[in-house]
Amino acid sequence: MSTSRAVRREKAIAVGVILPEVTRSVVEEHLEELAKLIESAGGEIGSTLIAKRNGPDPATYVGSGKAEEIAAMVTDQGVRLVVFDDDLSPAQTRNLEKIIPAKVMDRSGLILDIFARRARSRESKTQVELAQMSYLLPRLTKQWSHLSRQAGGIGTRGVGETQLESDRRIVRERISRLKDDLKKIERTRETQRQGRKGAFTVALVGYTNAGKSTLFNQLTSGDAEAVDRLFATLDSRLHKIRFEMPRETVIIDTVGFIRKLPHHLVASFRSTMEEAVSADLALHVIDASHPQFEDQRVVGEQVLEGLGVLPTNIIEVYNKVDRIEEGIPPNLRKKNAVSVSALTGAGISTLVGLIRERELAGGEMLTLEIPVQESKLLARLHEVGEIFEKSMTGEVTRVTAWIPSDAVHQFDAWAVPGAEAKRPA
Ligand code: GTP
Repeated sequence: MSTSRAVRREKAIAVGVILPEVTRSVVEEHLEELAKLIESAGGEIGSTLIAKRNGPDPATYVGSGKAEEIAAMVTDQGVRLVVFDDDLSPAQTRNLEKIIPAKVMDRSGLILDIFARRARSRESKTQVELAQMSYLLPRLTKQWSHLSRQAGGIGTRGVGETQLESDRRIVRERISRLKDDLKKIERTRETQRQGRKGAFTVALVGYTNAGKSTLFNQLTSGDAEAVDRLFATLDSRLHKIRFEMPRETVIIDTVGFIRKLPHHLVASFRSTMEEAVSADLALHVIDASHPQFEDQRVVGEQVLEGLGVLPTNIIEVYNKVDRIEEGIPPNLRKKNAVSVSALTGAGISTLVGLIRERELAGGEMLTLEIPVQESKLLARLHEVGEIFEKSMTGEVTRVTAWIPSDAVHQFDAWAVPGAEAKRPA
C-alpha cells in the first residue's frame, strides 16, 4: 500500500482571444502564464482554446459559437472550471455559464482566489476580502437570477429583487467596515515606519516569481519561503541586512506584480505596495532567465511609476543569471543595473556595493573633534549620523561619522581639516 496520497488537481480549460491589436504569440505567452496561475491556485490545465475576433462579443466575449465549442470540450473532458485570460463583465460570465456547464472565471477572479489562499496576516486578509467584495458587488445579480428562478413564477420577482437589494446592502456595509479596518491597520504601519526613520530602507519589488524572497534571504539572515509558485509572498516582511553597511539598513520584501493585475487588488494592496514608495531605495528584481523578462520589467516599471517611485530611486536587479547560457542580455549593462543569482550568491557583493554607494551619497563621512563640554552635539550626532570610530584625547572626543547631507551644517564647524575620513568597506 502506498503511503503517498496523490493530490488530485482540478482540471481547467484556459481560453484566450486574439484581437486585432495583439499577436497570437502574445496570447500564447499570456496563456502560459495563466496556466501557471491555475497551478498556483491548485488546478491544472486540461486544454487551451484560442479564439480570433475583431472585437470582444458583448454578450459572451468569445462569441456564442466558440462558447458552444467550449461547452462541448467541458462535457467531453469532464472539466469543472473554465478560465478566461481577459476580464469578463458580470453579464458575460452569466451568459457563458448558461451555455457552458462549468464554473466560468476570468484572470482577475483567479488571482483573487490565489490571494485569498495565501493571505496570512490580518492586513493581507482584510485587503483580499475588500478586493473580493468589490469584485463581487457588480456580480450579485447572478444571485438574483438564481433566487428568482428558484422561487419561480409570477409574483416572485419582487421577492428576488428584495433579496438582491439586501445582499448588496450587506456587501456594501462589509466593504465600508473593511475600509475602516484597513485605515486602522495603515495607521499602525505608519507608526512602524516612523520607528524605522533612522534606518536606510531598501524595498525588493518585482514580478511574481522573480526571486524577491530568495534575494531577501541572501541579503538578510531571514528565512522567507522561496518557492516556484506565483504570489508566494503577500505580506511585506523586513529584516536587517547581514552585511557591514555605512548605516543601519533594513530590507523589505513586498508582494509581487503581474500583468493584468485586478484593479480591486491594486487598490486594496496599495498600502502594502507603498512600502516601496517610502523606501530610500527600490530594488526592482527581474527574472533575467524568463523568456518574457523584458515585458515583465515593463510591467514592474509601470507599477512603480503608478505608485510614484522616482526612477532615480530604483536599481534594476537582473536575477537568475545562473540560468542564462547565452550570455547576459544587453540591457544588463545599463547604469543602475546589476546582474545576480540570488540562488548561488553571484553578484551579491556588487549589489551590496551599489546599496552602500547610495547610502553614502546621501551624506558625508567627516572626522570631527568635539570638546567634552559639547556633549549635546555628540548626542545629536548619535541621533542623526552613524559613528564608525570614536576616541578620547584629553578634553576632546574624536569621531569619524557618516552624516546625512541635510545635517552636515550642524557639525562642520568641528570637522578636522584634511582628516581623511575612512570609508567603511
Ligand atoms: P512571489 O512571492 O511569487 O512574488 O515570488 P518571489 O519573487 O519572492 O520569488 P521566489 O524567491 O519565491 O523565487 C521563485 C522561484 O525562483 C523559486 O523556485 C526560487 O528557488 C527560484 N529562484 C530565485 N532566484 C533564483 C536564482 O538566482 N537562480 C535560479 N536558478 N532560481 C532562482
